[in-house]
Amino acid sequence: MSLNREEVIKLENKWIAPVFHRRPVVAVRGRDAILWDANGKQYVDCMAGYGAAFLGHCNPKVVEAVKAQAEKLLACHGSIYAEARAELLKQIERIAPKGLRKIFLSNSGTEAVELAFKAARKYTGKREIIAMMRGFHGKTLGALSATWNPKYRAPFEPLLPGVKFVPYGKAEKVREAVTPDTAAIIVEPVQGEGGIYVAPEGYLEELREICDQHGIILIFDEIQTGFGRTGRLFAYEHWNVLPDILCLAKAAGSGVPIGVTLTPDEVLGGFSIGEHSSTFSGNPLACAAAAATIEVLVEGRLWEKAEALGSLFKGLLSRMAEKYRVVREVRGLGLMLGVEYRFDILDVLNGLLERGVITLSSGTRILRFLPPVSITEAQIEYVVEKLEECTRLLEEGKMKS
Ligand SMILES: Cc1ncc(COP(=O)(O)O)c(C=O)c1O
Repeated sequence: MSLNREEVIKLENKWIAPVFHRRPVVAVRGRDAILWDANGKQYVDCMAGYGAAFLGHCNPKVVEAVKAQAEKLLACHGSIYAEARAELLKQIERIAPKGLRKIFLSNSGTEAVELAFKAARKYTGKREIIAMMRGFHGKTLGALSATWNPKYRAPFEPLLPGVKFVPYGKAEKVREAVTPDTAAIIVEPVQGEGGIYVAPEGYLEELREICDQHGIILIFDEIQTGFGRTGRLFAYEHWNVLPDILCLAKAAGSGVPIGVTLTPDEVLGGFSIGEHSSTFSGNPLACAAAAATIEVLVEGRLWEKAEALGSLFKGLLSRMAEKYRVVREVRGLGLMLGVEYRFDILDVLNGLLERGVITLSSGTRILRFLPPVSITEAQIEYVVEKLEECTRLLEEGKMKS
């Protein structure tokens, strides 16, 4: 590295908008579930690029595909056909849900949601969107309108008119919120940013029914849950309910930015030239990364591994949780897990970091784990052991809370 650790921190702090909760880690290298700091310290990475590195850091097949594509072609606008894009579509054809046969490739999750809203409005001719309390769909103005946390929205209002929030998991509240102008219902099968809340039994089925009854578009935001994370290729498979629009991103490109909006033929197929576009849509490098990601995922049936590792991880967390009053609940599916505490967990997050574990939080009291599927059983045991150390200190009042 040409810059030393302190120089990196200084430059980033000076230039980057202060919107990130910074951790004192300067990443230089990653492999599977391990991230190395510039000072040589290694971490078990249960953040994994906020869920993007689901296969693990620098999966060799993805790296190889990216390298090969980088030598061939880096820029290719959607108005020119590209081999790498078609290769990705061949892979998507293997996994796309039944009936969803039109796609737009974008660059992030929030963009995938933006287009889902545009598509729902155009197709139905209606305007309103029903979104869920605690839901998170991104931070560009359209997606932000359906992101619940008032802290994210308030400084930027007015946002899209006609977005209503109802409590997550309560289909009857959705029914009450429907009007003749409802275009779409957007929901995460497992709420991620909101705190790892899994859809209760029967909920998604009932939303499907409401949408069918009223001609409403059902959007599943699987940006965090998709691509194996929850122990199924897509989380909706846990309930066997199909959406009208599926939004994907994060793990899709193993860290190379890509967003995906999948719809039935007649929804995106009804768009005309220029009604939506993006310079980087279907960028060859992103396509090569995503095609390799899907190939590795599908060939290894890695969602099954996520389910098995997730069940080990959750079991250990639950056993730990039983011993400590400060822990309220452990929840989640597959490798998307949350531990809710009764107190602020900032010191637990920092304590874990000191002990070589990177994790995320959802709000101030929920610890979130989004480890790669290449995490080992021994690494999971290490993470829980270190979490128990921090939890004990919190319980004994030896950690601030
Ligand atoms: C469920 C969900 N939707 C949308 C987004 C926004 O994705 P991006 O950060 O790629 O814009 C996220 C990101 O965390 C997410 O978890």
